[in-house]
Amino acid sequence: MDEKTISSLIEQALSARKNSYAPYSHFKVGAALLDSKGNVYTGVNVENVSYPAGICAERTAISKAISEGASGFTAIAVAGGSDSCTDSVNSYCTPCGFCRQVLCEHCSGDLIVIIARSPSDYRTYTLSELLPCAFGII
Ligand code: THU
Repeated sequence: MDEKTISSLIEQALSARKNSYAPYSHFKVGAALLDSKGNVYTGVNVENVSYPAGICAERTAISKAISEGASGFTAIAVAGGSDSCTDSVNSYCTPCGFCRQVLCEHCSGDLIVIIARSPSDYRTYTLSELLPCAFGII
């Protein structure tokens, strides 16, 4: 995956992050999911006063994409950190275990997971690196 595509996805994740609803954790996350047609589906974490009812940014993005009939996902960028919504974040926010399992449901192990602090400061993994020996029935 070329640098331009990666930095564009990160910019979209950081931009989406501005809409994060995180009044309880103050940890704002944005995600941008790329499909085989070049369409991008963004997502943010949306928390709830009943804490388990909240949803992570990655699952918001995948739910939006699946709802619109998208498939063939090739990459997802995730940017998350505390408090301020600037053009960078203060941590490398790797997807939680729950999100890794949900990504496995809809993406191949080759999915590129980009964990970003800024468009030029990121780490990449494959989904199978993040969730080896994933559970599956099919
Ligand atoms: N969060 C995400 O949105 N994605 C992750 O991969 C890790 C955690 C959210 C959930 C919660 O709203 C906040 O970050 C703190 O855990």
